[in-house]
Amino acid sequence: MTQTPVAATHTGLIGLGTMGAALALNIAEKGFPIAVWNRTGSVTQDFHANAGDLAARITPADTLEALVQAIAPPRAIILMVPAGQAVDDQLAALAPLLGPDDLVIDAGNANFRDTNRRDGADLPFRFMGIGVSGGEEGARHGPSIMAGGSDAAWGQMKDLLQAIAARAEDGSPCAGHMGPSGAGHFVKAVHNGIEYADMQMISEVYGVMRDGLAMQATEIAPVFARWNEGTLQSYLIEISAAVAAAADPSGEGQMLDMIVDAAGQKGTGRWTAIEAQHLAAPVPVIEAAVMARNVSARRDERAAGEARFGKAAGAVDLSLEDLEAAMIAGKILCYAQGFAMMTAAAKEFDWALDMPAIARVWRAGCIIRSSMLNDMAQALAEDPARNLTLAPFFAGLLEDSMPALRRVVAGAALQGLPLPALSAGLSWFDLMRQARGTANMIQGQRDFFGAHGFERLDGKDLPHGPWGNAA
Ligand code: 6PG
Repeated sequence: MTQTPVAATHTGLIGLGTMGAALALNIAEKGFPIAVWNRTGSVTQDFHANAGDLAARITPADTLEALVQAIAPPRAIILMVPAGQAVDDQLAALAPLLGPDDLVIDAGNANFRDTNRRDGADLPFRFMGIGVSGGEEGARHGPSIMAGGSDAAWGQMKDLLQAIAARAEDGSPCAGHMGPSGAGHFVKAVHNGIEYADMQMISEVYGVMRDGLAMQATEIAPVFARWNEGTLQSYLIEISAAVAAAADPSGEGQMLDMIVDAAGQKGTGRWTAIEAQHLAAPVPVIEAAVMARNVSARRDERAAGEARFGKAAGAVDLSLEDLEAAMIAGKILCYAQGFAMMTAAAKEFDWALDMPAIARVWRAGCIIRSSMLNDMAQALAEDPARNLTLAPFFAGLLEDSMPALRRVVAGAALQGLPLPALSAGLSWFDLMRQARGTANMIQGQRDFFGAHGFERLDGKDLPHGPWGNAA
C-alpha cells in the first residue's frame, strides 16, 4: 500500500521554474497536497528544502515515474514548462505513464492553436489548457485563471483553481471556465494583447511627458501615482509610477533613464494581432503596440532615422489632464476592440465565451487588472454583444475624454512625437462613428480593375460601373 500522504495527493506539477515553484507553493498553501518534479533533480530537492511549513504537503519526486506513482488517481498533472516544443516533449514522456482517467493541464502561455491540436490528438490521457496571469507574485498568492477544456476537466479542477486564484473585491474567485479546448489560452492571448496595448499607451504618454513637456522621471512618477487614484486605477499604472520613481542603484539619477529602449516579447501579443486578422476583427491598438515593440528593437535603424531626419521638435502644448483623459479614452477603445475580437472568436469557433465573466476574471490577479474592469463587467452583463463604446457608461466617458485624445494625438503629431497606439485608437473610433465611410471608392476601384461589382445605395441592379472598356 502507498503511504498516507501519497494517497491523499491527487495533484502533480512539472517544472519548478519561477512560475512553477510559486504555483506549487500556492497550491500547497491552499491545502492541496502536491507532488512535484523538475528535470534537474537538484532544483526539486532545493525547492522542497526551502518550502518551509508547506514542505509537509509537498512530495518531491526524482523521476517522472516517481512523480506519477506519488499521485493517487484521479491524477491531475500541471505542466509549467516553456510554451512550444517543451510541452509536446513532456506530453510524449507522460504518455506511457498515464491512463484515460488522468488529466494533464498545460498552464503555460501556449498558443491556443497548439492547445486545440493537443486536445484533439490521440493522447492516452485527458488534456486541458489554462491561461494563468499575474507573474510570480500572482502565481504565488493568487493569479487570474482562464481555463479551457471539457466540462469534466473543469469540474475536476474547479475547486483547486478557484482556491488558488485571486479574489475580486466582492470575494469571488478570478478563475473561470472559458470554454472547450483552446478557449482558455485564446482568452489569455487576448489578455496579453491588451497587456501590450496598455503598456504601450502608458509608454506613449510617458514619452510626451519626457520629450514634450521636459519632465524628469522623478516628476513623472507622482503623475502616474495620482492617476492611479482615479479612473485609470490599475496595476500597470501603479507599477509605472514605481518604475519611474526608482533611483539607479549603481549611479546617479533614475533607473528608468538607464534602461535600453528596446522591449522584449515572447510572442503572445503578436499571436493576438495575427488571430485578429484571421477573424477580421480589428484590434488596431493592440496591433500598434506589437508594431511599436518590433520597432523598439531596431535601435540602429532608429538612430539612423534620427540622424537623417532630425530629432522630434519636442515641446508640446498639452496639459497633464489631457494626457490622463487621452489614456482613459485609449483604454476604453482598446478593451472595446479586445472584447469585440472575442465575440468574433466565439462565433467562429463555436465557443460560448461569456464576456462579463471574462471581465470579472480579469478584475484581480492578472497584469491588466484595473478598477475599470468592474464597470466593463457591468456594461457587458447589460448587453454582451454590444460594442463596449456604446454602453451608456462608456459612451459617456468617451464623450468626455475624446476631445483630449484628439488634442494629444494632434499635438504630439505636430511635434513629431510618436503615439502609435493612441492614434490607432482615435482613427478606429472615427471610423466606427462614420455611417457613410469611404470604401465606396475602394469598391469602385475594385470593379474598375477586377470587375468585382458593387452594391448601389438605392438597391438598383447595376453589375458593373460605367468605366468604359475597363469594366
Ligand atoms: C501575465 C503575463 C505573462 C507574460 C509576460 C511576458 O499575464 O502574467 O502576460 O504571462 O509572459 O508578461 O510577456 P512578454 O515577454 O511577451 O512581454
